[in-house]
Amino acid sequence: MTGLKGRDFLSIADITSQEMTHLLTLAAQLKTGEVTANCSGKILGLLFRKSSTRTRVSFASAMWRLGGQVLDLNTSLTQINRGEPIKDTARILDGYLDILAVRTYDQTELHTFANYAKMPIINALTDWEHPCQVLADLLTVQEAFQANLSGLTLTYLGDGNNVAHSLILGCALMGMNVRVATPKDYAPNAEIVETGRKLAGDRSTITLTEDPQAAVEGAQVLYTDVWASMGQEDLAESRIPIFQPYQVNQELLAIADKAAIVLHCLPAHRGEEITDEVMEGPQSRIWQEGENRMHAQKALLAALLGE
Ligand code: CP
Ligand code: NVA
Repeated sequence: MTGLKGRDFLSIADITSQEMTHLLTLAAQLKTGEVTANCSGKILGLLFRKSSTRTRVSFASAMWRLGGQVLDLNTSLTQINRGEPIKDTARILDGYLDILAVRTYDQTELHTFANYAKMPIINALTDWEHPCQVLADLLTVQEAFQANLSGLTLTYLGDGNNVAHSLILGCALMGMNVRVATPKDYAPNAEIVETGRKLAGDRSTITLTEDPQAAVEGAQVLYTDVWASMGQEDLAESRIPIFQPYQVNQELLAIADKAAIVLHCLPAHRGEEITDEVMEGPQSRIWQEGENRMHAQKALLAALLGE
């Protein structure tokens, strides 16, 4: 086993490429039933400040299938929303739970949980990163190309957001080239890009551009996400014309590698960042990607709990 037992998973940059390879292999084996893991007697807490369908249900389903129990919390059900400090909540929950997945706005809140709770803390999405999503994404890419991820090119189109950040880090870790096409002023954070370049070393490249066509040419994976994330709803309308050239549609897909696959973390705004035709088309692996959230998180839970 890897040394993941007892660790936090707050960012893709928290793990090494060997650990990522181990998690992806384990996820694939758990998916086929080639191996099993047992987390009976363990309790997973889900503490969410934002809406979620996939992350909440796939974590619960993964833990139940591993034989563990789940406590699904929304911060409005707790004293957090009445102002109880995170450092107090973290120490109290630590006495009740074995592992905690947190979805919140500020990445530093996760660090407070991690600093005050001894149990593993998992980032279930923040404004900064969405690392669990990227475990499932890389598993889906691995399944599509039945090969080493190294050397493949993933193009991300749209907003340089939390999902883009984790993709940059995850692809860099696995030696994949990343091209990110965004409108001016919507590029991913420079610190993430710098960390990604360090992780990639001389194995692969990270390219930022405003040109969607150039970014897509010859790529094996096209990826997009909503143009306005949770918490940015009031900006959604005004962003549509700015982001329109970055829509993943049939015309853009035609420029990619012939074998290219299309991914989207979901939920999608059909007709905005992606067309119906592409979502439902033969190159879409979006539904498989959604299912893979559960398989990837089974591997993550088993590894962090050391089972
Ligand atoms: N992709 C994803 O995290 O979806 P949810 O917001 O539904 O969890
Ligand atoms: N970028 C999106 C991802 C949702 C899973 C958001 O943060 O709302």
